[in-house]
Amino acid sequence: MTIAAVVTAAGSGSRLGADVPKALVHIEGRALVAWAVARVREIADAVVVTAPPAHLGAFVEAVDGLATVVAGGQTRQDSVALGLTALDLADDDIVLIHDAARAFQDPAIMAATIAAVREGADGAVPVVPVVDTLVGAPGRDGVLGDAVNREALRAVQTPQTFRAAVALDAHRRGTAGATDDASLARELGYRVVAVDGHEWGFKVTRASDLPLAIAIAAQLEAP
Ligand code: C5P
Repeated sequence: MTIAAVVTAAGSGSRLGADVPKALVHIEGRALVAWAVARVREIADAVVVTAPPAHLGAFVEAVDGLATVVAGGQTRQDSVALGLTALDLADDDIVLIHDAARAFQDPAIMAATIAAVREGADGAVPVVPVVDTLVGAPGRDGVLGDAVNREALRAVQTPQTFRAAVALDAHRRGTAGATDDASLARELGYRVVAVDGHEWGFKVTRASDLPLAIAIAAQLEAP
């Protein structure tokens, strides 16, 4: 049984405001996608990265032989489907679907998702408690929507890890528009369980996320 991974990196990352795709932004001298691949490689035997079609050469260079690079699609869902195809999975393999933007996720969390699948779950995702107070979006009059009980909610991270047959089926039959893979699998009735996520599994999204990414990278590089 192979442990394989798709690392999605085909987004533009426009919210970061960089002049290159987000996954090519350098953190402590290494592209974000290279950090992500290095950490996934601690766990997975085969890794496919989905890259923006116009930047394939730069991504091949960035991953430095540790992953295969393929062109991503219009949406994250399309990109994951292309990555799964490129992995040539057997049904009983285990596949991690991970966002390059969550480049610093702890490999122990990745291992916990794999363990949950080995123990019989169809899929497993890391989740963390919500720290902000949550309310419904305000109406046109500016009045806040109803309060939401944050204790009842969790924020979802990646990797989202599945038996390969489940991931393939979810992406073959799932409806368009889902923002994550677990939603696709769950809508088909698969049992997806939660494991505890890690604060380093945050998604590098805005420029204000970069100082934390740099601090983590410096810590990982420290002798
Ligand atoms: O845009 P968002 O933050 O939800 O993207 C999550 C991940 O999906 C990022 O790592 C991004 O590079 C990837 N993605 C992709 N193909 C797309 C859009 C996003 O691989 N077409």
